[in-house]
Amino acid sequence: MSYQVLARKWRPRRFQDMVGQEHVLRMLANALDQKRLHHAYLFTGTRGVGKTTLGRILAKCFNCETDVTSTPCGICHSCKAIDAGQFLDLYEVDAASRTKVEDTRELLDNVLYAPSQGRYKVYLIDEAHMLSNHSFNALLKTLEEPPEHVKFVLATTDPKRLPATILSRCLQFHLKKITPGQITQHLQHICSEETVTNEIPALEQLAKSADGSMRDALSLLDQAIAYGQGSVNKKDVDTILGSMAQDDILPLLQALAIQDGNHLFNTIALLAERAPDFQQILEELISMFHQIAINQIVPNAVNIDSSIAIIANQFTPEDVQLYYQIALLGKRDLPLTPSPQQGFEMTMLRMLAFKPNVTATRTPIMSAERPLSKPEKSLPPKEKIVDVLTATHTTEWRDLLPKLELSGMAYALAANCTLETITENKVVLALSANHQPMLNQKLQERISEAFVRHFKHALQVEIIITTAELSTPVKQQQHEKKQQLEVATHSIMQDPRVKQLIDMYDATVEVSLLA
Ligand SMILES: Nc1ncnc2c1ncn2[C@@H]1O[C@H](COP(=O)(O)OP(=O)(O)OP(=O)(O)O)[C@@H](O)[C@H]1O
Ligand SMILES: [Mg+2]
Ligand SMILES: [Zn+2]
Repeated sequence: MSYQVLARKWRPRRFQDMVGQEHVLRMLANALDQKRLHHAYLFTGTRGVGKTTLGRILAKCFNCETDVTSTPCGICHSCKAIDAGQFLDLYEVDAASRTKVEDTRELLDNVLYAPSQGRYKVYLIDEAHMLSNHSFNALLKTLEEPPEHVKFVLATTDPKRLPATILSRCLQFHLKKITPGQITQHLQHICSEETVTNEIPALEQLAKSADGSMRDALSLLDQAIAYGQGSVNKKDVDTILGSMAQDDILPLLQALAIQDGNHLFNTIALLAERAPDFQQILEELISMFHQIAINQIVPNAVNIDSSIAIIANQFTPEDVQLYYQIALLGKRDLPLTPSPQQGFEMTMLRMLAFKPNVTATRTPIMSAERPLSKPEKSLPPKEKIVDVLTATHTTEWRDLLPKLELSGMAYALAANCTLETITENKVVLALSANHQPMLNQKLQERISEAFVRHFKHALQVEIIITTAELSTPVKQQQHEKKQQLEVATHSIMQDPRVKQLIDMYDATVEVSLLA
């Protein structure tokens, strides 16, 4: 036997097989059991919630040989014929493909003739909103004065497109979206009937994606079973749905950790290419921050992903609390943003900008080849920088220089000198010959005045020119910066995720220090 898709195989044949829609079912059942029959019913509601299904069940209720009933027997000739789609008095019309007035006329031509098999002729007009105006008019005539033996069942996803004249002649029932919980339960039931092994989170994910449509849920289940070769697991479902696994979202956290706007935007751009559900990404982020926060306070307390554990120590607990809050608000406001991607970007930018204790730096326009062009914030922790500083030789001059409160060119000149000798009334500074052009009377006077101000007594300042290699404060600083840069570069290059990024984007690392 050929494979029958689940949605068809599991089309409910009785009211009690329907999932949800209790409100509609109760009203219909009561009316049927009290034989209060209307001549035209209209089922509205989004796709795959049971409109057509309900129309067919209703046809059985009208025509079951036992009686007009809310519980058709399912075994009489009429019931069986309707289930098999072979009942001569059930006219199913797909209005979407038969919109023309000729089609409607042809359909309604023999309305007047008595049913050939059953009690009632049932006209099930699906996608009724697709009929042309002429068709509506033709239909309206029959709806106004329908023969006793005729029942109309209209179904539409878009009742606003039906003329008021039609609407007013139908008994209208609105079918609701089916809740994710109801869908999950139904999928579980079907899986067990079909002996399909399954993971509940996978079914829940399918149910969520189906967005209220049982047909969509069942089609997705078909796909998941085919993909998983007979079993349904979360990983396959994520793949099928293109949903965001943690692996896709980690790069966002990494970009945040190194406070790299370029990298962050490139990551978002990569995500966006897959047209993801940004609401879902935010949810995923929120749950990751939650896990990080737990990991920071109670390491190894919960079963936390190893990748999360690694990234957890790159954030302070304050960062995590703040990011969590920002993500939460971002998720709340996402429906208000002009586009989900825009809302998502703003949320991520907010995280970048409001990192506690860090002044936001302006990030340059992103460039795909340089996702790591601004990793200065990823310098080694403070203690390490201090190590570097204290390890270098600091002279008395270097301590004294800032205390002189020099500025501008005078400071620059002094910083390019070394302190050769200092006595009670004379200071000798040395300037290398290649800096001699900086030297002038005015600047030398300002430096002298600074010394006098600082030591509070008169003294003479002499600047001698030398060709010797001098270890000036400027030189020392340059040297230290270079060392810091090497330390930073080394630690960045050691990071396995950076290595991965380099591989992934064919990136180069450019480390620079903040002034
Ligand atoms: N309420 C429900 N309970 C159980 N299964 C349902 C329900 N609604 C839909 N289904 C499943 O989805 C399939 C399609 O349902 P149906 O054709 O009734 O949807 P519809 O509302 O007419 O959708 P459309 O607007 O796309 O025509 C059914 O065969 C059934 O398997
Ligand atoms: Mg339908
Ligand atoms: Zn029957």
